[in-house]
Amino acid sequence: MSTLHRCLALLTLCCALPLHAADLRIDMGPNTHVWTTAQLLRRADAKSVTIPDDVAFHHTMRYRAVPLRALLPELAQGDRLKFVANDGFSVDIAADALLKPSGAQAWLAVEDPQHPWPSLPGNKGDAGPFYVVWINPAAAHIGGEQWPYQLARIERVDDVAMRFPATAPAASVPADSPVRHGYAVFQRTCFACHTLNGEGDARMGPDLNIPHSPTEYLSTAMLRAFIRNPQSLRRWPEGRMIGFPTQQSLSDADLDAVIAYLKYMAQHKVEKS
Ligand code: HEC
Repeated sequence: MSTLHRCLALLTLCCALPLHAADLRIDMGPNTHVWTTAQLLRRADAKSVTIPDDVAFHHTMRYRAVPLRALLPELAQGDRLKFVANDGFSVDIAADALLKPSGAQAWLAVEDPQHPWPSLPGNKGDAGPFYVVWINPAAAHIGGEQWPYQLARIERVDDVAMRFPATAPAASVPADSPVRHGYAVFQRTCFACHTLNGEGDARMGPDLNIPHSPTEYLSTAMLRAFIRNPQSLRRWPEGRMIGFPTQQSLSDADLDAVIAYLKYMAQHKVEKS
């Protein structure tokens, strides 16, 4: 093939590349790594994984995926990772969930532009270009919010209480208090979509303390029912809050704790000007 032909062939290939090919940015503090779709699909550890009861699609899905742990060589116990999606959804996942040999394994599903995934149910668009899926999530109590899709970047971040001090209970609250336990549950299950006292990365749902805490305008029974099934309170087709219907997604003890935390925070409002 002549050089000209080769150039032309290359050009045609570039033009034929679908729009979906994307970059995943992994920012681990001093080191940042950017992976392209093609590089990820080409990795030796990329495999076909089958996910029964996929959280985003609500049925069994098969993906080309890379073990997430392998993309995070610098990850250490106690680290927190922030997963930021293109639509503004952001969730913190504790490194321990990724490092523990608990049986739950996180995989980064990579959408191959040659074999695009189906659209998400409910007009939510495309789950690609990257989507964190779990094998055996129940083993580590991985809830639905820890399956970020439309993923754009992963960052190592400081502890939530350090980044967002107005969300944290006072230092005087004992370590074994339900309020402190509820704060941990809140970070895991609510903070992906809600701010509190105006702090947090999420922009999807309303602030859960300002101007009013839901504990001020809903009975505890209604709030409990709402968290299990948001459409039990107000019903409309475009509601975007996911519920936590089962003990597996949120135990009764965790539900009580998160309400104890919200009640405590209602007494500790921080109004930002
Ligand atoms: C996937 C994102 C998401 C998660 C996770 C989430 N919420 Fe929401 N929440 C929303 C959105 C969006 C709304 C606004 C209503 C709607 O669109 O469903 C909302 C509304 C609410 C409301 C307002 C109810 C009302 O009508 O006054 C409360 C209270 C609430 N959420 C509490 C929680 C709590 C507590 C958690 C954690 C246990 C949580 N949410 C987890 C997205 C979320």
